[in-house]
This record gives sequence, C-alpha cells and structure tokens, in this order.
Amino acid sequence: MDVYEAVTSRRAVRGFTDQPVPREVLKRVLCAAAWAPSGSNLQPWRAYVLTGRPLAELKRRAGERVAAGDPWDEREYEMYPAALKSPYHERRSAFGHERYSALGIAREDWEARQRAAAANWDCFGAPAALFCYIDRDMGRPQWSDVGMYLQTVMLLLRAEGLHSCPQMAWSVYRRTVAEVLSPPDDLILFCGMSIGFEDATVGYTRTGRAPLDETVTFVDG
Ligand SMILES: Cc1cc2nc3c(=O)[nH]c(=O)nc-3n(C[C@H](O)[C@H](O)[C@H](O)COP(=O)(O)O)c2cc1C
Repeated sequence: MDVYEAVTSRRAVRGFTDQPVPREVLKRVLCAAAWAPSGSNLQPWRAYVLTGRPLAELKRRAGERVAAGDPWDEREYEMYPAALKSPYHERRSAFGHERYSALGIAREDWEARQRAAAANWDCFGAPAALFCYIDRDMGRPQWSDVGMYLQTVMLLLRAEGLHSCPQMAWSVYRRTVAEVLSPPDDLILFCGMSIGFEDATVGYTRTGRAPLDETVTFVDG
C-alpha cells in the first residue's frame, strides 16, 4: 500500500470484528512508528497496548461506569476551546450531523447520541487498543509530536490491513484506564485508540474536508 492510499483509506472506524490482531503485527507497527519525528528527538509518547483479558477487563469496568451514569473524571486537559469560533464551530456541527445521521439518530435525540458515544468505551468492539500518554511537563510542541506519532501508527496499521479510531473519549475515564494500566503519576492520558479489522456491516458517512484554500496558502515567487 502506498502512502497516499494509506492516508486516504485511514478513517475513524467505529465498528470492529472480534478477529484478534496478532501481537507480532502490533509490534511491527510500533517498531516502525518509533521513527516518527519529534523536536530534539524527545520521543515524548508513552504507549500502552492492550488486548485479551486486560482489555476485556477495562471494557467491563468502563461499561459499569457508563451503566451507573458515573460522572466523568475531572479533565487534565481541555479537549476543545470553550467557545469554538468560526469556522471550527461549523465544522464540528457538520461532523456531529454526519456522524449521527449515518446512525439514523436525530439531532435532538440526546439519549441515542449518548448510547452511540458510549460505544467509545467498548472500543467499538475492537480486540486491541492503544493508550497514549505524555509526560505532564511537556509543552505544546511535544503534544504535537505525539500527534505525529499517532498518525504514523494509524497509517502503518492501514499497511497491515487494520483500521483504527483515535479516542479522546478515554480521557474522561482516565482513572479507569489507570486502574488497569497503573501508569506513573507524571503521565497524562492523551487518548486511546481502538485497533482491529473493520466490521463492514457498520454504516458510516465519510467525513469531508475543507477546500484547500481554507487551510493552505501558497505564496509563490
Ligand atoms: C486526537 C483525536 C481524538 C479523537 N477522539 C475521538 C473520540 O473520542 N471518539 C470518536 O469516535 N472519534 C474520535 N476522533 C475521530 C475524529 O472524529 C475523526 O478523526 C474526524 O471526525 C475526521 O474523520 P476521519 O478520521 O474519519 O477522517 C478523534 C480524532 C483525533 C485525531
């Protein structure tokens, strides 16, 4: 698979089969992803990969919290600015509309939306998940390094015929994740990532992108 195909075929997949992901494949992907760039080569990512019983246990614990209507854990970082200005606000609304209409959920059906969101904490049925932490001393450039690392992981997963879904949703259940992983206190959970083979029976709408001239300016000589 060439890089263009990996980039364009990657999308946030929200339905996986239970076909296991071999450990050697995950290892191959993560060995290669370690070549992602980072400022001064700090490599500020710290990933935990879960499969099998530990992942089942995490899903069980998270599912119990969802069922009990537990409040989310207090945030260690803000997922989005409190007030999203234009054009971000419109892009976010368009995304929400596309996502829920693909599932046949009406905009005002808050309960159905909550149920769909809860699938995050079952990793959308995925048999493997990665949890990516960053040291709490790190600044914005290092968070950006972590993003590059995660995208590299996702593209390499495509090369292996696998799909993924990055999930900040796990950050609001970070204490439950920590119960299973016991990470050092100096790490912040940035996000989870569901990994597996796509369940092609799950419907989706492909997200769009802003026209190039909204996000790129060419300054030609
Ligand atoms: C850092 C990050 C966190 C995300 N968190 C979630 C999440 O918690 N749950 C989810 O369903 N999708 C999540 N997504 C997926 C985005 O919604 C998705 O990437 C975006 O809508 C573009 O769609 P595409 O990836 O399918 O092209 C996340 C994506 C990123 C990059």
